[in-house]
Amino acid sequence: MAESADAFEMRGIVQRFPGVLANDHVDFAGRVGEVHALLGENGAGKSTLMNVLAGLYHPEAGEILIHGQHVVLRSPQDAIANGIGMIHQHFMLVPNQTVAENTVLGLNRPRFFLNLRKIEEQVQALGEQYGLSVNPRAKIWELSVGEQQRVEVLKMLFRGAKVLIMDEPTAVLTPQEVEGLFVTLRDMTKRGHTIVFISHKLDEVVAIADRVTVLRRGKVTAASVSARGVTKAQLANLMVGREVIFKVDKKKAKPGDVVLEVNRLCCDNDRGLPALREVSFQVQAGEILGLAGVAGNGQRELAEVLTGLRCTTSGTMNFNGTLLNRHTHWLELGQQLAHVPEDRAAVGSVQALSVAENLILKRFNRPPISKGWSINSIAVKQNAVKLVKEYNIATPTVETHVGMLSGGNLQKVILAREISGHPKLMVAVHPTRGLDVGATEAVHKLLVEQRDSGTALLLISEDLDELMSLSDRLVVIYEGRIVGEMPAEGADIRRIGLMMAGTKAES
Ligand SMILES: Nc1ncnc2c1ncn2[C@@H]1O[C@H](COP(=O)(O)OP(=O)(O)O)[C@@H](O)[C@H]1O
Ligand SMILES: [Mg+2]
Repeated sequence: MAESADAFEMRGIVQRFPGVLANDHVDFAGRVGEVHALLGENGAGKSTLMNVLAGLYHPEAGEILIHGQHVVLRSPQDAIANGIGMIHQHFMLVPNQTVAENTVLGLNRPRFFLNLRKIEEQVQALGEQYGLSVNPRAKIWELSVGEQQRVEVLKMLFRGAKVLIMDEPTAVLTPQEVEGLFVTLRDMTKRGHTIVFISHKLDEVVAIADRVTVLRRGKVTAASVSARGVTKAQLANLMVGREVIFKVDKKKAKPGDVVLEVNRLCCDNDRGLPALREVSFQVQAGEILGLAGVAGNGQRELAEVLTGLRCTTSGTMNFNGTLLNRHTHWLELGQQLAHVPEDRAAVGSVQALSVAENLILKRFNRPPISKGWSINSIAVKQNAVKLVKEYNIATPTVETHVGMLSGGNLQKVILAREISGHPKLMVAVHPTRGLDVGATEAVHKLLVEQRDSGTALLLISEDLDELMSLSDRLVVIYEGRIVGEMPAEGADIRRIGLMMAGTKAES
């Protein structure tokens, strides 16, 4: 392969935060016309490294070269002046302004002469050139997440970015949108752009990258290896430092009594429209029932009614001999009914509380945690120290706020809290979404152990591979109705796909 020039080069970057060495003498470079993937588990230091290149952080050691010239990047403006633009995980757009307005937002141009019409034309032209069509006059809030991402890319291209850093860009996209993004990225490399593609997903890296650099705990464990011919297993090994088992190790289920029986359940969504239409199913002790379906077909509402967060309109839920309805004392059910919600940060935990406090949220009112009218702080700490060790939660201390933890470790805090209550039923919603390989594996293992200890599990996920490998039985939901049921072992993935898309499967 012809050696092409480096668009940028970082040497010996050291970036520290209180208690963590996020980048430990990292070297990283991107060539003109390549997609260079930066791969690593959550917390490996990927975003930090790229925030340095984008001028947001100022490292305590190291140097940056752009086209062979030393530069000092004091701000994002400095970075963009050097042709470097970063698209963050959380978009930075103003919702009630238009696409064109957002494109020029923050640019130091004389405002009086701002010709919006002309900018709209330029944005339109750029969009056509790069296959990133969005209406320049649309307001940001009117756009889908995928379209908003295109606006972010256009904004950077408009500012003359030659190096485009994308921080986990696919996390918010549908599979179709991911394909579209990849086409655009390929196109951009042909036009001489350099793409830094941050990800922890092996499939994507193998699909899109020319070269891969792997970070682990702030250090490079594989430097600029060619993505051609590299296997997922090799990459996974470099990421987590040991072989990852992609197959979930589990014995055949030994289902016991019915723990949850849902009968002709109906409920409405937030807009008052039917979300569940006569849904019926059972979950037995010691089995995992997987609920497959495309997002938005009633899964969220089902999880909410099962955990007391939403009212039903008709039908019944029988949990271990107790009818669940608006008269249920949900707090008293407490630990018997575990919930691993979709939104770990807002629903699953209290970000402003410590790890120790989050771990007792479901039993602060019971001994040994409660002591008369007060909380036994020694017991709180002992409980936390024990669970942090048992569940291998990486946190500086048990007093650290959970807002500081990576996604994988936050999920472990939630699982530790829910599992340690010995629940009869666990409702887990997208339990591994956004987690890296190592954390996903840990969560899968915990769920199977939970099953083997006799808990009934309802697993709601969009990841068919996850559902197929974890579940014992599968049901498919479409437009609020259960449209199929089958054993997970040997299930035909194409048939499930058709059911998920609303096509009646003919037997
Ligand atoms: N602004 C910050 N303040 C304190 N710690 C941080 C900050 N940003 C990142 N960290 C810590 O630095 C480490 C690397 O984080 P990050 O670069 O976000 O990892 P990645 O993007 O690979 O998931 C983590 O331990 C994280 O908790
Ligand atoms: Mg990150």
